Amino acid sequence: MAKAKTVFYCQNCGAQSSKWIGRCPSCGEWNTYVEEIIQSDKGKNKAPVTANKTAPKPKRISEIEAGTENRTDTHNNELNRVLGGGLVAGSLVLVGGEPGIGKSTLMLQVALNLKGMKVLYITGEESEQQIKMRAERIGMNNPDCYILAETHTQSIFQHIEKLLPHLVIIDSIQTTYTDIIDSSAGSISQIRETAGEFQKYSKLTNTPVILIGHITKEGSLAGPKVLEHMVDTVLQFEGDRNYGYRILRSTKNRFGSTSELGIYEMRGTGLREVANPSEILLSHRDENLSGIAIAAMVEGMRPMMIETQALVSSAAYGTPQRSATGYDIRRLNMLLAVLEKRSGFRLGTKDVFLNIAGGLKVDDPAIDLAIVSAVLSSNEDIPIDQKACFAAEVGLSGEIRPVNRIERRIAEADKLGFEQIFISKYNLKGIDRKKYKIEIVPVGKIEEVVGKLFG
Ligand code: TYD
Ligand code: MG
Repeated sequence: MAKAKTVFYCQNCGAQSSKWIGRCPSCGEWNTYVEEIIQSDKGKNKAPVTANKTAPKPKRISEIEAGTENRTDTHNNELNRVLGGGLVAGSLVLVGGEPGIGKSTLMLQVALNLKGMKVLYITGEESEQQIKMRAERIGMNNPDCYILAETHTQSIFQHIEKLLPHLVIIDSIQTTYTDIIDSSAGSISQIRETAGEFQKYSKLTNTPVILIGHITKEGSLAGPKVLEHMVDTVLQFEGDRNYGYRILRSTKNRFGSTSELGIYEMRGTGLREVANPSEILLSHRDENLSGIAIAAMVEGMRPMMIETQALVSSAAYGTPQRSATGYDIRRLNMLLAVLEKRSGFRLGTKDVFLNIAGGLKVDDPAIDLAIVSAVLSSNEDIPIDQKACFAAEVGLSGEIRPVNRIERRIAEADKLGFEQIFISKYNLKGIDRKKYKIEIVPVGKIEEVVGKLFG
């Protein structure tokens, strides 16, 4: 018998090697190489079920009809937005996220809402009964939603050929396996091969296929950088498990922008779409409290108002504590250093705690000014007017720097009834101040902000 051909794959990044190596030269991880059998005797000469029957010929580019993208409305506005307007026919979409974040819930919800379309939901992780129980929580609308508990791709394709679904959902790609390869399900070569089969199927039949994929604890899609290259769209589902909010963002999209964002709230009855994110990110307080400032943030293309909360207190121990939730701690330390130098606040002897409301992680530099203001407000114990908000970056020398999409931020603040927005004076150019009811306060330096807020 011929010896089976094996290759070593890095389970972290998918790099390949003919022999075992301790440290992956590609991603630097230790002890991640695993031997995988890539071709066995029984797999030899066996073509995949979806072998190309109509071989394409080269065409002049001028002869190819452009055609419009045929998009299916998923009846889920947030998902449509992230996809760039709906599911494109023949596209392969990868949805990644940590376990328990709600990938299966989201996809089942989509399947159940696509009335009039035949959807095949393939579950390799849960039983049919479990899916049924989840469907009952969500509420069922689509009688044409089929569930199949199967992980063997050749059998899956047999069912697909009979059923001819309009959409196929695979939950999850890590549980599927093909005969062509001998290594176990979830290994790099299996994932690559099965994803390749689904890719071929979707392109040949023009059926959209959604693959659900796990994420490793480091936060990258398990195994497959390879997988990211194969699919048309990569969606990441993320959020803090202790809060109900979930964010869906696309990190790759061949049919739309990657700067769009979908927001959901996990409820007892499934995921609710959050059309107006500011509604959840602002706490509705009756009285003015110190240490709170509102930032006019933009995530992707979407403006949203978000609350930053700071607590400054005298350091109980020698070394002051600094802690930040939802914000980069190094950036907080930098802002504190700027404050120390520029406005004479002795923050070096104070503990500083910072929290971004709603459990969101933000990296928009435009929230700097809100953070600085919240810290100052807590330090002085003087509240900031609830109707004021901020949108500017703070530079190392204490200068207030302009940010992008300023008009969107102002318009959102205006719409939500804020009365004052602090922006960089270098951002003023081109803004038609008469268009808004909100008062626009241009500032150039930290000192000016301090003067205006607490002066
Ligand atoms: P799930 O979709 O199974 O996550 P994933 O497929 O990403 O692993 O959902 C995970 C969590 O969502 C689970 O802990 C229970 C919770 N959940 C709700 O809060 N409400 C619901 O209606 C459903 C279906 C799930
Ligand atoms: Mg799941």
